[in-house]
Amino acid sequence: MSGAVDRPATGPLIVGAMVRTLGAYPSGWRQPGAHADPQTDASILRRVARLAEDADLDYLFFGDWLATGPDLEFRDPYLLARIDPVSAVLYLAGVTEKIGLIATVNSTYADPYATARATASLDLLTGGRGGVNLVTGAEPRAAANHGRDAHADNEARYDRAEEFVRALRLLWESWDDDAWIADRDSGVLIDAERLRTAAFVGTQVRVEGPLNVARPPQAHPPIVHAGTSPRSRALAATEADLALIAAADPASAAATRTELRALAEASGRDPDDLKVIVPVLPVVAETDASARAVVDRLLLLVPIDDGASGHAERPGFPANRSLAAFLDAAGLPADDPARRAAVDDVVAADAAARFAEAGARVLDLVRLRTGRSVGGEHPVTWRHLIAAHAVPANFVVGGPTVIADHFELWRAAGAADGFNVLSAFQQAQFEAFAQLAAPELRRRGLLGRAGATLRERLSLGAPRLAYAPALATR
Ligand SMILES: Cc1cc2nc3c(=O)[nH]c(=O)nc-3n(C[C@H](O)[C@H](O)[C@H](O)COP(=O)(O)O)c2cc1C
Repeated sequence: MSGAVDRPATGPLIVGAMVRTLGAYPSGWRQPGAHADPQTDASILRRVARLAEDADLDYLFFGDWLATGPDLEFRDPYLLARIDPVSAVLYLAGVTEKIGLIATVNSTYADPYATARATASLDLLTGGRGGVNLVTGAEPRAAANHGRDAHADNEARYDRAEEFVRALRLLWESWDDDAWIADRDSGVLIDAERLRTAAFVGTQVRVEGPLNVARPPQAHPPIVHAGTSPRSRALAATEADLALIAAADPASAAATRTELRALAEASGRDPDDLKVIVPVLPVVAETDASARAVVDRLLLLVPIDDGASGHAERPGFPANRSLAAFLDAAGLPADDPARRAAVDDVVAADAAARFAEAGARVLDLVRLRTGRSVGGEHPVTWRHLIAAHAVPANFVVGGPTVIADHFELWRAAGAADGFNVLSAFQQAQFEAFAQLAAPELRRRGLLGRAGATLRERLSLGAPRLAYAPALATR
């Protein structure tokens, strides 16, 4: 058993690209030259993969969402339409050589046999670069798309997820390494003794096996789990190799990481075998000032209810994108004179002085991220504040030094073993990260892990084989 559960990571961090081709920030696709059309995803996927491999990132990571609708246009436009994650990684398997490929699978709706088959195939086709992110899903509309009456509750979803992962491991172990004999002289193709069923019978998952795909090169491709609830933490601690957590600041991430590592240790694992990863959205440019200018454009292009654009009448337009909603959040009373401002007016010092803490915090964020300040050379408009308030983002904004300092600070705080890097828009912002920030990260020893397989790259322990040997028929 290893030492302290709050020990910070050492050596290079784990760095993956969380690929959202339409951009991770809602107004990203509106930037000049940004990818704006899922029909051309094939080429953007190839370009992002090439950039990530050249920058020595550890993996490309694809999320998933099992429903769509017009309400997503403003909130999460990248979820509206895109290539499905398993198809994306299988496509990229043929055009990449060393990078890990991780696809999200929703265990509430996916079939374990089909998932074992697809992920084992991915691992074989890539020589051990495959991984799977198991999620239980938070979108109620997924139920109707999969023949269910309702989206199962947290307990039922995690009960199924636990059985799902047991079945997955057993199916991956269907074939022993030396089961395929192919002896031309004797005519013996397989050693039937070395082929075993899964014979898994749970309350929600039942699968017989064996799997009709040979043993994956990694035996068990790395399992990621993303979630927030206590059941999610328990699943990550006992089953995941990587836990992808939501974290607003280093202190809360460090607390979650310590808790996960303690749970892993309590379940009999070496806590160093569970890596905790946080998403981050770096906005990168050659200089801090030009990175701030990118955020400035992103904020200005967020659709808000400005009384003229007509966005507010569209289905699903978020209620918080208006001056009134911002002033409510900022704590200004109903009769405050600022209520009569237009959204493109400059914010006056006397109005800002009346902000409560939440309003002051948004003002501070906008100053840090865009360089705009009340009464400063670059003034703040209400539009900037409304956008920053209504579309929260885990931005870190600046040139290579600022980005590398951020990564280093989170690691030193024990907040993360690595990062899933989001890009506000593609491909320019990922290119800026890969070509400007990544060299600085490498120079500081924060990026660049070794290993032929994804498991090796991530320094994961040996897979826990024969996960439930009593269930094997062999
Ligand atoms: C950083 C992060 C990324 C996630 N990515 C996805 C995703 O791509 N698809 C998905 O269905 N859920 C995703 N989730 C949601 C969780 O998997 C989970 O479905 C949701 O949080 C509800 O489960 P919980 O109550 O355990 O949190 C993500 C969660 C986090 C924290």
